[in-house]
Amino acid sequence: MQENFSLQPYNTFGVDAKARYFAEIYSIEELKEALSFSDTQTLPLLFIGGGSNILLTKDFEGLAIKLSLKGIHEDLINENEVLVTAKAGENWHEFVIFCLEKNYGGLENLSLIPGNVGTSPMQNIGAYGTEIKDTFVSCTVLNLENLQLETFNLEQCKFGYRDSIFKQEGKGKYVILEVTFKLTRQTHKIKTEYGAIKSELENLGIQNPTIQDISKAVINIRQSKLPDPKEIGNAGSFFKNPTILLTQFEELQQKFENIQGYPNGDFVKVPAGWLIEQCGWKGKQIGNVASHKLQSLVIVNATGSATGKEIFDFSTEIINSVKEKFGIELEREVNII
Ligand code: EPU
Repeated sequence: MQENFSLQPYNTFGVDAKARYFAEIYSIEELKEALSFSDTQTLPLLFIGGGSNILLTKDFEGLAIKLSLKGIHEDLINENEVLVTAKAGENWHEFVIFCLEKNYGGLENLSLIPGNVGTSPMQNIGAYGTEIKDTFVSCTVLNLENLQLETFNLEQCKFGYRDSIFKQEGKGKYVILEVTFKLTRQTHKIKTEYGAIKSELENLGIQNPTIQDISKAVINIRQSKLPDPKEIGNAGSFFKNPTILLTQFEELQQKFENIQGYPNGDFVKVPAGWLIEQCGWKGKQIGNVASHKLQSLVIVNATGSATGKEIFDFSTEIINSVKEKFGIELEREVNII
């Protein structure tokens, strides 16, 4: 247990905010010990996984717990399927690579997403036509009210676009300890429908891609436009892509011919990156904070010295200008602490 501990290395924005107390835990027993400490001191709790989806806007006056439970195990189901379970503290991308080396398919489109396995169900991480809900089987959690272990299956997790029960009614009630995925061993489902993947495979001269080829294409695409948090602080997409009514989209089309949208019934999902770029934010810097020059949906700690408050205020300005120009209210995807 450490006191007045800087969380700078534990959030990918690289914001220098302090936690009143900090503990890194490697087992359920250590987690329970830390929880009993917070209980006696009646401290608020902050659980940190990979730190890739939080913005610390001020010092945290409670106990921050870094979840570092490690381990992966496999249970073969049949010739074509395997259950793979990884503990919360496993790095997501390393886990994906582990699966690809074993030729287990299903997670390849999710290569290079920052963060840890334990936080992947929180917001049903997704990219390039895949979300974890497509291969998710269950997760084991610690119920913080009674300290009992519970299992949530796919249905109970209520996954949606960047959403789950853990962000809604289950918020703050559970700690995810491990996650199980059902992956393929032979007959892989190759997902290339996302435009950028197709063109990247063409660039690579690949016609019948393997899951490893898909991963390579995804890595190339991500590296070409998403900033590496190790080089420049960021938390990936800062906002969700908003869903608006088809009628509102049609009205906007009258005014903005080039507006893009992905229709879904009576609704249309609009790329927030496009809206933000149209408002002139792409690559724009104010003080220590900027919208990334290649993907305006990503806010970066441009100088490395930004405070969480500065980043938050910058995001508010973006929200206001998109609202003013398009009448659409962007929602932050990153958790604001
Ligand atoms: N666009 C712009 N300007 C920009 C950025 C994007 O016009 O500055 C346009 C692009 O030209 C494209 C469209 O917006 O036509 C969509 O862009 P892109 O394919 O880059 O995807 P996105 O919708 O911006 C989402 C996810 C990403 C994920 C990609 C690929 C969200 C909030 N973001 O971004 O997820 O990698 O799709 O699947 O859904 C993350 O969550 O941290 C993340 C990076």
